[in-house]
Amino acid sequence: MLTLSSITVRYGEQQVLHGVDVTVAAGELLAVLGANGSGKSTLLRAAAGLEPTAMGHTTVDGRPRQPLDIAMVFQHIHLVRRRSVLDNVCAGALGRLPLRRSLVPALFPADVREEAMACLERVGLADRAHDRAGRLSGGQQQRVAVARALCQRPRVVLADEPVSALDPAAAEQVLALLADLAHDEDLAVLAVLHQPALAARHADRIVGLRGGHVLLDGPPDQDVDILYQPESLKAVS
Ligand SMILES: Nc1ncnc2c1ncn2[C@@H]1O[C@H](COP(=O)(O)OP(=O)(O)O)[C@@H](O)[C@H]1O
Ligand SMILES: [Mg+2]
Repeated sequence: MLTLSSITVRYGEQQVLHGVDVTVAAGELLAVLGANGSGKSTLLRAAAGLEPTAMGHTTVDGRPRQPLDIAMVFQHIHLVRRRSVLDNVCAGALGRLPLRRSLVPALFPADVREEAMACLERVGLADRAHDRAGRLSGGQQQRVAVARALCQRPRVVLADEPVSALDPAAAEQVLALLADLAHDEDLAVLAVLHQPALAARHADRIVGLRGGHVLLDGPPDQDVDILYQPESLKAVS
């Protein structure tokens, strides 16, 4: 279970997040929705410990977040295109290998390669393990990135617009995969999504941000129009 409490971020005069509280249960896919600039990516960075100015608390299963608790998936899929799919997935294990091993990633130990293979099976790409990562389609590459995240053995997966660069069929497939992983592996998965319809189909719950405040927190099929109206309409609505 991921708990974000009173997350506050400001850049100079601008307050980007105003004491945001969000929880994601183990076994749940939470979608975070909101217009551009509403603070979604900042919230994810704060949750991952990548936002040095963030105030507030992040716990994982009730304890202060540890670096390996949280794995990330991005819109721009950062695979090493010239390396094999399997090597890319093995890289997810780097954080828990002894330094001597991580310095020679060409020589991932057999147990790591085996685990990476199981992660690839989990995302349906075991048959592509020995292809160069750059040869796969965008949707397949994002599934490899999900397998790499799994190979880290995280408790939490944070995904920032993981399907924004994908065609509609691949987007459905990646979101269905993230939902399955949450449910089957008991992971807390938080995904920032651009299309409310995708969230409605795949998420267990949605949180809506506007201007750095949580405006909605509830079932995935609720009306989210208010998130995308200009702030100036807030007073009259
Ligand atoms: N490094 C930064 N420096 C200054 N302002 C930033 C920085 N990162 C984000 N912001 C501002 O914080 C606000 C929220 O940004 P962001 O979290 O990226 O929004 P979203 O992901 O919802 O589009 C925006 O107004 C953005 O300009
Ligand atoms: Mg963003």
